[in-house]
Amino acid sequence: MKHATKLYETVSALMAPGKGILAADESDATAGKRLAMVHLPNEPEHRQDFRELLFTAPGIEEYLSGVIMYDSSIKNFTDDGIPFPDVLTAKGILPGIKVDLGTKDLHGFKGEVVTEGLDGLDNRLTEYYELGARFAKWRAVIVIDEDKLPTTESLEMNAVQLARYAQLCQAAGIVPMVEPEVLYAGDHDIARAEMVTTRTLQILFHTLIKYKVDLRGLILKSSMVLAGDMYPEQSSPSEIANATLRTFHMSVPHEVGGIVFLSGGQTPKRATENLNAIAGIGEQPWPITFSYSRALEEPVLLTWQGKPENIPEAQKMLLHAVMMNGLASQGQYDASKDSKLK
Ligand code: 13P
Repeated sequence: MKHATKLYETVSALMAPGKGILAADESDATAGKRLAMVHLPNEPEHRQDFRELLFTAPGIEEYLSGVIMYDSSIKNFTDDGIPFPDVLTAKGILPGIKVDLGTKDLHGFKGEVVTEGLDGLDNRLTEYYELGARFAKWRAVIVIDEDKLPTTESLEMNAVQLARYAQLCQAAGIVPMVEPEVLYAGDHDIARAEMVTTRTLQILFHTLIKYKVDLRGLILKSSMVLAGDMYPEQSSPSEIANATLRTFHMSVPHEVGGIVFLSGGQTPKRATENLNAIAGIGEQPWPITFSYSRALEEPVLLTWQGKPENIPEAQKMLLHAVMMNGLASQGQYDASKDSKLK
């Protein structure tokens, strides 16, 4: 393949030990939900203020290898006129771009969805590469319940779309992050989450191999294996770690360049503790780290409150959150000494 060496270099930079990825890639609509937490209206200037606060936070480059942006933010600037991707590149952080266009009903399959965004994707990737993007993200949403969902058809349809997206990224010299998010929402137990996540990943990797995607030049973004948020008993970090790693060993080929986690609606502290427990089990065939959105952004938003005078404190909170997750990715996080993450 034309770009293989470049793709492997990007993967290894993204998966650098002790570092992880910030997913600041909310669509404009979802960014509004974040701003609503601090009672700000969903205006472009507030979205820009929040992204500028995040990307210019001093010191984050020690713990962040990459930041994922959205179309409107990769084309945006700081107040001083510096393009956001250039701010990141100057710090040695790789810019990434979410390229899917969200989900639509999978007609005939009640409650299930398929992700859109393949039309014209090759041209968009060329444009994003020129803007500095070196990796991309595509999120498939896998709805789970106690017995019926997801259907095999929805897993197969989403896997084919992810494979085509991954092909187009690799042809453009961009590392695809493939994200089949098995939702945390629900009242299923952890055993059900393990079974569904294993099957999801088995179908995904079978499909990626079938369509000749280069697994060394690809990163998997996965959910942790968790009982649903409505299930009465929440599992311990060690149960979660064991179930998650069993899942990967049953489904993820060893050539895959790396595995990163989404936080999925867990509290920031829980996401960090669970990553720490996973890393604490020891070395795995793949480097593993974090690629959180909510678990990194929520503490920052709550510190910022939309007020300019709070920016330095909010930036320190981001540094703290990425530092704690950097430690967790190496199994060195001590939750009892961390009073800041809740
Ligand atoms: P959360 O960490 O908020 O789950 O978001 C990660 C992500 O990129 C979802 O697509």
